[in-house]
Amino acid sequence: MLSRRNFTKRSLASFLLTALPSVVFAKNKIINYKLSAEKSNFNFDKNFTSNLWLYNHENPGPLLKANKGDILKVNFTNNLDEPTSIHWHGIKNINKMDGVPYLTQDPVQPGETFSYEFPVNQSGTYWYHAHFESWKQVAKGLYGPLVVNDKTDDLIEDDIVILADDWRLNKKYQIDKKSFGSLMDWSHAGRVGNWLTMNGKKSPQYSIKANSLARLRFINASNARILKFGSSLKNNNIIAIDGVTVKPMLVKDFTLAPGQRIDLLINSVDLLKVDFFEISHTKQLKAFTLNVTKANNKTRDITNINFTSNWILPKLNKAKIINIRMQGGAMGNLSKANFDGVEKDFRSLATEDKKLWAFNKEIGSYEYLLAKVKLNQVVILDVWNDTRWPHSMHLHGNHFFVKSKEFKDNIDYISRDTYLMQAGEKAKLIFLADNPGKWLFHCHMLEHAASGMISYIDVA
Ligand code: C2O
Ligand code: CU
Repeated sequence: MLSRRNFTKRSLASFLLTALPSVVFAKNKIINYKLSAEKSNFNFDKNFTSNLWLYNHENPGPLLKANKGDILKVNFTNNLDEPTSIHWHGIKNINKMDGVPYLTQDPVQPGETFSYEFPVNQSGTYWYHAHFESWKQVAKGLYGPLVVNDKTDDLIEDDIVILADDWRLNKKYQIDKKSFGSLMDWSHAGRVGNWLTMNGKKSPQYSIKANSLARLRFINASNARILKFGSSLKNNNIIAIDGVTVKPMLVKDFTLAPGQRIDLLINSVDLLKVDFFEISHTKQLKAFTLNVTKANNKTRDITNINFTSNWILPKLNKAKIINIRMQGGAMGNLSKANFDGVEKDFRSLATEDKKLWAFNKEIGSYEYLLAKVKLNQVVILDVWNDTRWPHSMHLHGNHFFVKSKEFKDNIDYISRDTYLMQAGEKAKLIFLADNPGKWLFHCHMLEHAASGMISYIDVA
């Protein structure tokens, strides 16, 4: 296990070993961006100014765009008073660019700059967010969308990111800081908010062209809220899940757990407007509206757009099985667990250490090695959610295959990077470990991750 102190030395050594001559990237186009983490003002309500932490003072952070095959180069400056780092959620990244403090890089200190540079070889909807005390930094607004286009996207007239967040604000529209670290939240569903925004706004309006195609890219950046969307359309046409193109699927509504993405294709022929709702509660909220403008005249034929997934389930006969039993939380069955090498009872873990969740009776952290895996081995994470809570399980640096019960008429495996596991559910998350490095596996309910539901898998 790597201590924080030794991190710099070790990572420098491994960097020297793995550094590639720059000529490898020579053909690829480099897309440059500048991001800075800032203390920013933002108005949720015109009478109140809230203090948020934002990238480039924007809520959400700027849309980063690249084409498949480009190199994304993000020059990042930390203008906060505390360390931070950026994780590129869903990107099959180079490990040292993955943005996990102490595991893949030193945290970026106040005033410091760090240059993230990595190829984007898969198209789709991704996002980036702070990964240092993310339960706090993400709650304050440190995230933004990342979209990688491929040729199919040229055929689509309107491309709209819908980044949803569930803020917890007090009566003065300030981030409710008093509740940060609430043991109640951390042991239950996580920090659930009271102010839902789409791209920072309450029920915004967007326009799309008539007789054309629009792609909506939903991202759930909430700390813990599981969102569910429906619309005024009879069906919603899902074309991608967690960035990965799927055979189009018609659904009435869809669930989006923290960290997940879903892309819809909207054919605007015969439409005047479409309303979208957040429907996880009996009292549904208007999420946003699409107004159809009359600009275009030719009718689009969408049959010539080929949405298919070219991901192939690896052969499972030689797979390495890693058993993961998730336990803990309120009303759970975790009586004892190991924390920093010491076995402790649940009550003292909760009250003394604010640790509440475990994998295989270990309280996790960025330094908890769950398993070692050989490069190019097929891995099955055999996960059992033995808690009374749903958890949004995310693997860094890799997509995995999962037989989701969520899309009823789709019995195939789907490829995703974040999977919502219901209380009691058992699921096999399957991936080909062809990406070397230390990859986090954690719950994306950020309070759960902070209080133990986190580990890494070492692929070497
Ligand atoms: Cu989007 Cu480790 O997370
Ligand atoms: Cu969780």
